[in-house]
Amino acid sequence: MADFDQMALVAFLQAQNCSNLPASWRHPDCSNDFLSAAYYQSIGKVLEEAKFHLAFFDDRLAIPDVYADDFRVTIKEGIRAVKLDPVLCATAMGLATSRLGIGVTYSTTYYEPFHVARTFQTLDNLLGGRAAWNVVTSLNSSEAANMGQDFIEHDLRYERAEEFIDVVRGHWRCWDDDALVIDKASGLFAHPNGVRRLEHNGQWFKSRGPFTVPRSPQGEPVLIQAGQSGRGRQFAAKYGDLVFVIYPNLQAGRKAYAVFKDELEASGRPRNSIRISPAVYVVVGESEAEAQDRRARYDELAKPIDGLVLLSEVLNYDFAQKPYDEAFSDEEMSGISGIQAFRDRVVTLSGRSNPTPRDFVTFTQRGTISEFPVFTGTPKSIADQMEEWFGTACDGFVIAAGHMPGSYEEFARLVVPELQRRGLFQKDYAGKTLRENLGIARTPVQGRLDGAR
Ligand SMILES: Cc1cc2nc3c(=O)[nH]c(=O)nc-3n(C[C@H](O)[C@H](O)[C@H](O)COP(=O)(O)O)c2cc1C
Repeated sequence: MADFDQMALVAFLQAQNCSNLPASWRHPDCSNDFLSAAYYQSIGKVLEEAKFHLAFFDDRLAIPDVYADDFRVTIKEGIRAVKLDPVLCATAMGLATSRLGIGVTYSTTYYEPFHVARTFQTLDNLLGGRAAWNVVTSLNSSEAANMGQDFIEHDLRYERAEEFIDVVRGHWRCWDDDALVIDKASGLFAHPNGVRRLEHNGQWFKSRGPFTVPRSPQGEPVLIQAGQSGRGRQFAAKYGDLVFVIYPNLQAGRKAYAVFKDELEASGRPRNSIRISPAVYVVVGESEAEAQDRRARYDELAKPIDGLVLLSEVLNYDFAQKPYDEAFSDEEMSGISGIQAFRDRVVTLSGRSNPTPRDFVTFTQRGTISEFPVFTGTPKSIADQMEEWFGTACDGFVIAAGHMPGSYEEFARLVVPELQRRGLFQKDYAGKTLRENLGIARTPVQGRLDGAR
């Protein structure tokens, strides 16, 4: 019995010059208008027409420049070489849509919690309760260098992030749901006892309040988390409403999904309080041959340098230092400080505790569409694959695009009707807010001080 009746669909977007696939800008049908608001607005309309639950923007606070300690190859090849502020691109998209959820990545390591609380609660109000925040701790030293800070070690980043979220959520909950009155006749703007100071004084942060933004129609933004380490998963189970994952295949996904949901239940949260969604690519064609041709085109466009640059970025290790077929020493392996789950996956899949750079390229497929599972085929065969995953390995999908906006247009035209016909995906939005649409509870903040009013 699935935890949810129908799957949630999330689009994996970037406020940058390419889709998740760095080579996408080279695709003949790719729109490269990424500096315009119209680009984000037109993608939003495609997604909303298709009834996607959420458009989600990833982010990093640096362009990839760990490889060879340089940025020129990144710029020349356009390997995620542009990073706009995702909140602004997402706002442009949100204002051109009315039901689509809008999620944005923001780091707990480089911003002040009060600032993040205010930005997201403002966005949530402007969009009528459709905002989500993807909570990341950030992963490489280029981000620290841009933000003028020292690079903080992995588990410590999570410790800090816990306090960060407590401050953000604390501020969000400093206004009662019904604090605002705005009654011209009586002259009462808002209940003075319906708003409180936070008075947070912790290990990492201090913040007083009162917060400056009232509750939104869904109360507060949906929280997304995508940690893959043990520490990250623990954090996700504690705070997440929506959890993004990367599963190498269905079998591994089923195992990880069951473990996560069991742990969630053991921690006192119901199994259906979090939706788990793995990142996948979908390459659809009217015929199997057309789908295979499209997939081959994506593979032809990807260059080996794309993978090396992005591996260096995500693992925070300069792959240019190391001969391609030389095994990493134990010391070098433990010095890799980026996404450790990535490193560990290479060890597992290659069967070697001291893999080579070639093994990293082969077993992560970084920079190609095969870095995530790829559903390729006709609409029917893709719906079959998604149906096989749904309920046993996931509660929805984060769909990455081979090129923009064509991949989403093809998915909307060919796959969505088949999923709807099978009852696996919504024909219309369930409500107005993202929480209603995802079937995720809101936290009431109400009437605590009723007697005092
Ligand atoms: C679908 C998905 C999207 C992600 N988006 C971002 C992002 O935009 N920015 C970022 O710094 N990390 C992003 N991450 C990385 C995670 O936040 C996390 O750092 C990573 O999965 C490693 O897990 P760990 O932090 O537990 O080691 C994403 C991960 C996944 C699975």
